[in-house]
Amino acid sequence: MAEQIAWGPELETGIPAIDADHKELVNILNEVLAMRRDATASNQDLNDVLFKLSNYVCYHFQKEEKLFENSDYPATEEHKEKHRDLEKTVVDIHDLLGKDPDMLNLDEMENFLKRWLTNHIQKVDMSYVPHVAA
Ligand code: FEO
Repeated sequence: MAEQIAWGPELETGIPAIDADHKELVNILNEVLAMRRDATASNQDLNDVLFKLSNYVCYHFQKEEKLFENSDYPATEEHKEKHRDLEKTVVDIHDLLGKDPDMLNLDEMENFLKRWLTNHIQKVDMSYVPHVAA
């Protein structure tokens, strides 16, 4: 059974607006994980929370990319590419769950999203912190 993601100092960038977004992303992803444990939840319920995750991911990535615009962050383009990849994956998962849920391995989906979120914050996002004004 999937474990919830715990917020901790290893996920903090020290930039309040970004940390608030990341906490919300963790909260929404934990909603996805909790939904999987809820035997009364339908595919539609899961799809609704994935839609919420997809929207928040896009909102957060736009905010982060605005920070890059006025910085000397050298990996801006690579970072944006990673954002576009995840946006596409979340939309694809949402679409597949809506159209052909039997094709979706929900355990793999959960593990992918958990791994992606924590790795992205800890390894990719942390790399821009010294380059953007707090
Ligand atoms: Fe916080 Fe690059 O996403």
